[in-house]
Amino acid sequence: MGRETRDRLVYVAVWLACLAPLLWLAWQAYDGALGANPIERLIRQLGVWGLRLLLVGLAITPLARILRQPRLIRFRRTIGLFAFTYVLLHLSTYIGVDQFFDWQAIGKDIAKRPYITIGMTAFVLLVPLAVTSTNWAIRRLGPLRWRKLHRLIYLIVPLGVAHYFLLVKADHRPPLIYGAILALLLGWRVWDWARPRLRVAPARR
Ligand code: HEM
Repeated sequence: MGRETRDRLVYVAVWLACLAPLLWLAWQAYDGALGANPIERLIRQLGVWGLRLLLVGLAITPLARILRQPRLIRFRRTIGLFAFTYVLLHLSTYIGVDQFFDWQAIGKDIAKRPYITIGMTAFVLLVPLAVTSTNWAIRRLGPLRWRKLHRLIYLIVPLGVAHYFLLVKADHRPPLIYGAILALLLGWRVWDWARPRLRVAPARR
């Protein structure tokens, strides 16, 4: 199999993997299989898949470097845009289905419930990243400014984890596990950044 065909097949597989949870959720909603509180389950599942894909997106660079597979980087944008789609649907379900577009109640929620304030901040910061993910935007911004802007992701994902941690009432283990994965992924970046700077110049003979 040629490299191009293999790349195309992997690309289709990435698309299907990102789309599968959404299709499964849509099917469960259609089938009435979302349990006793379908709206809450829908919001929660869309949120958790948004967070998972954000973490997968953050894992691409370390994986590409560790496995020496630079071609993996090409999937980062697709995964990031799917993460944004899940978060957008998560927010839309909250606004439209949970709150029935009651903007006053939504405003109150944003102001009074810290987990909603943090979730909203993460979403607002995510929008410019999604908007600037086209080739045209990358060219317009220039790679340096584009890269600087996209460093916002290092703030957005921790906010997503904090949002999850604050809304959980009893078992804090799931958000802590996501937090540990995030710490590992960010820790790798700090290590990768610091390594060449820490390397001691060899002593002259
Ligand atoms: C990057 C942005 C966001 C991420 C990654 C995210 C992620 C999550 C996660 C992981 C959960 C818990 C899922 C579970 O319990 O299994 C959740 C729940 C929830 N999120 Fe978000 N979220 C984000 C933004 C928002 C925004 C902008 C809002 C609304 C303004 C929001 C409202 C909610 C609500 C209402 C719940 C359910 C709380 C409950 O059932 O008690 N989220 N979110």
